[in-house]
Amino acid sequence: MKKVFDLFDLKGLKLRNRVVMAPMSRARILDSTPDSSTALYYGQRAGAGLIIAEGANVSPQACGTMGTAGIYLPEHVAGWRLTTQAVHTAGGRIFLQLAHAGRVSHRSLQPEGAAPVSSTSKHALNTTVFGINAAGHTAPLQTSMPQCLTEQELAGIRSDFVRAARLAMQAGFDGVEIHAGNGFLFEQFINGALNDRQGLYGGAPAAHRLRFLLETLDAVASAIGPDHVGVKVTPFSRLADMPSYEGETQTWLAFANEPLLGSLAYVHAAFGDVDASFALQFRQALRGTLMRPCSPDAAAANAMLEQGLADLVVMGRPFISNPDLVERMRHGWPLSLASDTTVYGGGSAGYTDYPFYKPAQEADNSSADALV
Ligand SMILES: Cc1cc2nc3c(=O)[nH]c(=O)nc-3n(C[C@H](O)[C@H](O)[C@H](O)COP(=O)(O)O)c2cc1C
Repeated sequence: MKKVFDLFDLKGLKLRNRVVMAPMSRARILDSTPDSSTALYYGQRAGAGLIIAEGANVSPQACGTMGTAGIYLPEHVAGWRLTTQAVHTAGGRIFLQLAHAGRVSHRSLQPEGAAPVSSTSKHALNTTVFGINAAGHTAPLQTSMPQCLTEQELAGIRSDFVRAARLAMQAGFDGVEIHAGNGFLFEQFINGALNDRQGLYGGAPAAHRLRFLLETLDAVASAIGPDHVGVKVTPFSRLADMPSYEGETQTWLAFANEPLLGSLAYVHAAFGDVDASFALQFRQALRGTLMRPCSPDAAAANAMLEQGLADLVVMGRPFISNPDLVERMRHGWPLSLASDTTVYGGGSAGYTDYPFYKPAQEADNSSADALV
């Protein structure tokens, strides 16, 4: 048996294999509240060892694009409960990603049309989000100029994450993943070229730029228990206008060295374009479980696990069009490709209507049955 299909003990949570479904916003959530179609979608994918449900906004201000979910109101808890029940009934495990987009947002998405917030007042260039245009229609729009957060406001956002984590646990999630990647709010603090603040949360020392994330992780871990908390980072990713900066490698190695991470459920690191030696140093510095992206191929996944490059492998897009991805990998069955036109927005087409694979013999039998 290949290691990728072995059980994994995630701080006491038993995973049935080592394939993790990546968090993916599908822009299909109406009024920020997940419903029965969300539950059907995730329930179909419960064959993953662990699902990380799409980024959910920790407050109205956290929203970066239309169609994303929330986790700050009682109706969000009720809506998400349908999803956690569907996944658990099918024997799966599920964490919820907690997100704050920071400056990767538009005024039309913000409470009372306010400016989005960030570590800085620098604008994210060449970055669009789905907002509401002047004619009142959903449209891709350039992000708005952000407003630089005060230290007092940072304390408020930390509390929003704590509240969201508690609500996620009430909704039945097995844990939460703090989204500190993709150029979202926490990365806007970590990035040494973007973060132009003075004081405790800015400046040259990596510890200052990492402080907001680490304090938030600590607060969330104290609230719901460190075993239920993961964190996603995307070192060297240039998404959402993240510039490169001096000391970038040292910053990420300082992060990986942080003892707090060893007490958490996992670190999910989706590296951008890095050399193998950085990936190895990151791995060696980190105490605890490491998840990394991998192609949907059992041999590739197994090689990563056998070489100790990761403890769990993460797959995103392949889960969109293959709800039974792990079974397909196990049996070497062919994979379907997702249609580009139905990834974001819309209804069940391209969301909950991708079929499970039927081996040829069974397909033959069922067509024979149909003829009788
Ligand atoms: C449709 C779509 C939505 C995504 N939404 C999120 C998200 O909500 N949070 C996040 O951290 N990453 C998000 N990602 C990135 C994925 O989690 C993953 O890192 C990326 O897709 C790379 O894996 P893959 O090549 O297997 O798809 C998204 C990716 C896709 C394709």
